[in-house]
Formats: sequence, structure tokens, C-alpha cells
Amino acid sequence: MGTFRYPVVLYSPDRSRSVTVETLVDTGATYTWVPAPVLQGLGHQPSFRQRLRLADGTVIERDGTEVVVEIDGARRTTVIIFGDPDSEALLGAVTLEQFSLAPDPVARRLVPVVALMAGSKAVESFGIRQNRRGGVVRVVDLRSDTVTQPTPEMRRAMSLAEVGDDVLGEDPTVHRLEERAAELLGKEAALFLPSGTMGNQVALKAWTRPGQEVILDARAHIVLYEMAAMAVISGLLPNLIPTEAGHFGAADVAARVRPPVSYVAPTGLVSVENTHNMAGGTIFPQERLAEVYDFCRSRGLPVHMDGARIFNAAVAQGLPVRAIAQYADSVMFSLSKGLACPVGSVLCGPRDFIEEARRVRKMLGGGMRQAGILAAAGLVALDTMVERLAEDHARARTLAEGLADLPGLRVDLTRVQTNIVIVETTGPLRAEALCERLRTQGVLALPVGPDRVRMVTHYHITDDDIRYVLDKFRQVVTVA
Ligand SMILES: Cc1ncc(COP(=O)(O)O)c(C=O)c1O
Repeated sequence: MGTFRYPVVLYSPDRSRSVTVETLVDTGATYTWVPAPVLQGLGHQPSFRQRLRLADGTVIERDGTEVVVEIDGARRTTVIIFGDPDSEALLGAVTLEQFSLAPDPVARRLVPVVALMAGSKAVESFGIRQNRRGGVVRVVDLRSDTVTQPTPEMRRAMSLAEVGDDVLGEDPTVHRLEERAAELLGKEAALFLPSGTMGNQVALKAWTRPGQEVILDARAHIVLYEMAAMAVISGLLPNLIPTEAGHFGAADVAARVRPPVSYVAPTGLVSVENTHNMAGGTIFPQERLAEVYDFCRSRGLPVHMDGARIFNAAVAQGLPVRAIAQYADSVMFSLSKGLACPVGSVLCGPRDFIEEARRVRKMLGGGMRQAGILAAAGLVALDTMVERLAEDHARARTLAEGLADLPGLRVDLTRVQTNIVIVETTGPLRAEALCERLRTQGVLALPVGPDRVRMVTHYHITDDDIRYVLDKFRQVVTVA
């Protein structure tokens, strides 16, 4: 059950032209949507009226027509229902009735199929909601890049993955992912984990012993959003560096390294976050990273990198990811954020460290059995989803520049370096209220402080979505 995006080829009536649309498909509820302008652009006109029963029992009449579509190379004739012309997003519904015969295992899961129209609960599960006039309003979800859904290619790879018991070291797909990740990051070995939080915490535990301190930024994810795990699981104290942009220098670390005396807790680790989430997706500058790393080496201190979004940092700087990873002994990166995998992170580092991390992962309940199903998506992500992050960055910039011009908002454009935009409210409309107003307009953003709202661009966000969001912001702030 659930929704995902699926490419469908729509043909013109004489089949001389076609358009591929990425449709939202609901495996539980049975239908998908394509924008009506796409149909009209292909030359389709309504050819019959169709009665449709909505989930609440209401019966409505809409125009419909037959269109030849192609899914996974299989052509079918299917019924398209035109959307309500008064609605803000003019949509048509493609029934998936015919798709049951498609040979692809993913497509086969789309049956049984019944055509429905806007207003049903399932429409909400697409992220498309009804407006007051009974039409549909689209929802643009900018809360996080973790809302991304796996691509069709990932779903295929997952369904075909060769698997084994990974706790016994027998899953060939996990091995492939770990080898690939280690090679990409220039490390000896790697470990696949269920989450970024577990990746960070396993690293902290594997590098340190209870009673030590970890030097890191005051707004690091490890500090703010990992449930005090460093204290609970590893007996560690954070030694915080307050920063503006999420990065610090060797002098900041030097000032916090404890002297080797018998009456203070020793420093066990330095941790950096790249890109930095709460600072707004900022990149840890390469020179500063190098400086911190060199200093730590001279003091025999290991450096861990929370690189949940290290691929964003790499793409934004035009660097191979290993050029960044070289300045940390261990690096955790997430597959489940901008890279769109359903689950998973990878921790990379020296071989003996990874062996220890494997033991800690098992201790924390993170040993997974046929995890190749998940690792298969990770391999597809590393092949297909990295370079496209540049698109997310360009859209974040367009969004930020558009917002910076609006009254009652402030955006520090120097901080918009990757796929995160943090907007500050400067007027009476505070973050929570702003997000609530946006939500009623179909724009989902996350308040991250009384006056700070975070938005993250990702795989499902289009240029048109950004125009839509800016438009909704304009309406919301002008009525403030
Ligand atoms: C910088 C950073 N590190 C770690 C994590 C944790 O990842 P997960 O949600 O997979 O535990 C996140 C998640 O948002 C993050 O932004």
C-alpha cells in the first residue's frame, strides 16, 4: 500500500505524439492523476460523460475520454477523466484498470483497479486535497527531503534483489553497497545501517569510551535531535561550539580539547556536520575541514563526519565525495534523504573501526537480516540520484531569492548553499502561524524556531512547485 511516482507514456489520439508524465500512483486505492493541460496539449477532447462516486458517497459527473497509455513498454487503452475546470489544479484521472496485465512486477501490484475522482480519502493520501469548491489543490511538501519516495528503478531493484542473512554476513547486495560506499568515500570499509541517527551513534560509541567528551557544533543533529543518545548509550558529554553557519576552525577545537590531567573528562572525538542542517544546509568549507582534521590528527583525536547530506556538499562544490570525506576518519551518509531511498544510511571508515561498529550496531538492535532489499535501492541511488541534487540546489536558490523579496520575511542568501532554505519571520506573523497558513494553501513547511521556518527541496519538487509556493507565500504574507 502507499503512493509512489511512476512514469506513464500518454499518446495523442493518432498516436503520432506522446508525453511521459510522472504520475502519482496509489497502490492501495487504485488510480492516478495527470494534469488536464497535458491531455489537451496532446489533442484529447472529452468524448463521454462519466458518473463517479466519491468516497463520501457523493455522485458527480465529469467528462472523460479514452487514451492509449504505455507502462513499462506495455500499451493499453485506458479511460481518462477530466478534472473539475474550476479547480486550481486542473487534473484528470487515469484509471489503472488495464494495467493489471502489465508484465512488470511493480505494475502488477497496481490491481485491482477502479476509477475514482477527487474528493476521496485516497486523494488526500496523494497529497492532493479538495478545496472549498470541491476541486483539488495540490500539496507541495517541503518539510524535508526525507519525504521522498523511492523511484520506479529502486522499486524494481528491490523486488529483484539477491539477498541473504546479513547478520551472518551473507547478503550479497548489502556487501555490494558497502563496498561501493567505501570506495566512493575513499575509506577501507563500510557498514549499512537503518538510520542516520544509528550511524552517528554507532560511530560515537565505536570511537570513544564512557566518560569522555565530544567536541561538536551546538546545533549539530547529534546534539539536538538524537534523544541524548550520546549520553544514554555511550556515556559521553558534548562540549559545544556555538557557530553561526555550522562550521568551526582548529582554534575553536583547540580551545576545547581537555588537558591530560586526572581531574577533567578527556576529549574522545571531534564531530563535524556537512552539510549542516540547522544552519540551513551550509557547507563546511574545505580549508576549515582540512585545518580541523590536521589539528585533530596532531592530537591523536579521531574526527567523525555526520555527512547525512554529504552528497549535497559534494555536488554543490563540484567535488568528488571522497575529497570531502578525506578530512574525517569516519563518515555517515544518508540514503533516505535527497537520494530518495526508503530506508538506510552508511557508515564508512577504517576496517577495524567498522568491525567494532558492526558489533555496536548489533548491540543496538540494528542487525538486519535480508537487508539487501533495502541496499538494492541504495545502489540505484548512488548510480542515479547524486548528480540530480544540483536541480534541488537550483530550486532552493530560486525559492530563497523569491522569498527574500517578500515583506515580513528575511532570508540569508549566503546560507542557501544546497537544498535547504531557512526563512526568518520579522513581523507579527511567527513561524507556527505562517506554516499553518501555508498548510491551508497546500504548502507544507517546518517551523524550526519561533521565527524560523525550514524548507527542503527534493526529488519530487518541480520548478512549477517553486512558482506555486512563492505565489502562496505572497498571498499569505500580504494578508498578515
Ligand atoms: C544532519 C543530519 N544528521 C543525521 C540525521 C539522522 O538521520 P535519520 O533520520 O535517518 O536518523 C539527520 C536527519 O534529518 C540529519 O539531518
